Amino acid sequence: MRKWPLLYQILAVNSAIVFIGAAAGTTITRTLAQQSSIALTVSFASLGLLLSIAANYVLLRLALRPLLVLQTVSELVAEGDLRIRAEETAGEPNLARLAHTFNTMLDRLEEDTLALEHSRRLTEQLTQQVLSAQEEERRRIARELHDETAQSLATLGIYIDTVLSTEAEHMTPSLHNGLSRVREVVDRTLVGVRTIIADLRPSLLDDLGLAAALRWQAQHRLEADGLRVDLQIRGEGRRLPPPVETALYRILQEAITNILKYASASYVEIDLDLSRPDLVTARIEDDGRGFDRDTLGPTTHGQGVGIFGMQERANLVGGTLQIDSAPGEGTEVRVCIPTDLALAAYANCQPHESIVAAVQSS
Ligand SMILES: Nc1ncnc2c1ncn2[C@@H]1O[C@H](COP(=O)(O)OP(=O)(O)OP(=O)(O)O)[C@@H](O)[C@H]1O
Ligand SMILES: [Mg+2]
Repeated sequence: MRKWPLLYQILAVNSAIVFIGAAAGTTITRTLAQQSSIALTVSFASLGLLLSIAANYVLLRLALRPLLVLQTVSELVAEGDLRIRAEETAGEPNLARLAHTFNTMLDRLEEDTLALEHSRRLTEQLTQQVLSAQEEERRRIARELHDETAQSLATLGIYIDTVLSTEAEHMTPSLHNGLSRVREVVDRTLVGVRTIIADLRPSLLDDLGLAAALRWQAQHRLEADGLRVDLQIRGEGRRLPPPVETALYRILQEAITNILKYASASYVEIDLDLSRPDLVTARIEDDGRGFDRDTLGPTTHGQGVGIFGMQERANLVGGTLQIDSAPGEGTEVRVCIPTDLALAAYANCQPHESIVAAVQSS
């Protein structure tokens, strides 16, 4: 009977109760016909009612048990356990079918989740490879510009200086003037080439580390552009694993580029905390025009990927990036990266309340 649909089970049990009640009632009435009384009728009816309630209760409890199991399973699935499945065999056939459909949906969900996770990992690996290749290419171009172009320009400058000092008396004033102007152009070009080299891959970052490279950016890009900069660094001199240094440097470099491009700021505050063993945090805040984060997104010209790139770089090394901004209220970028990717799960990457306060009190 447990394989019957619930409706039939209820009908069968209630029919059995009515049948037994009618048969027993008739027999009892015949036997006790003489002593029949109201009390006997009431007790007999109450007994029948109690029997009916108890039988229906037990039947419904047993029949609906799979629904309770299904509810527990759904709750576990909602909590993220995609491996669990509902029992399909026991109980009422319609509920067994429901459990089967539910399990089929879970199978699909698990497959899709695994496929999604797989493609997410693949994208992450590809992004990692693209970024490494880009970094390597930048390093190569920077090296070539340094070893070839910058060296040649420096040598050319020395030649011109030598000619200007040794051959001055054989030159006409206009030739001397012309050569001096060429010398100035060589100097300016050399400064420009060195800036490009530093932007591509500053040797400071490889040789002296993040703090030195950031200081260079603050001085040669922000202050050189007329901005007031308050740069606070804790744990200066500490070296981090190269992927962490590169990621953080590129994130801060993009933040600085954005300030110069869009913020129209007059003051920039930069905090870098290298002193913690498990993670490194940085904050860069400007007092510029700010922007509405909801309007962000890549443009069709391939622009507008800077912030996305910052986020990606932070994620790839297990870190977090937050940007707070609103029109007219400046922009604050906070980044936190575990010093070791293996520690990512344990690192408490909550950006510091105020690194500045800590720097001032130390
Ligand atoms: N510090 C800032 N102050 C004001 N606006 C900003 C600041 N940083 C970013 N923005 C706004 O956010 C937008 C997106 O920045 P994002 O760096 O993602 O792209 P982009 O700089 O326009 O292009 P790309 O970085 O790809 O060359 C910018 O167009 C700008 O409007
Ligand atoms: Mg940008």
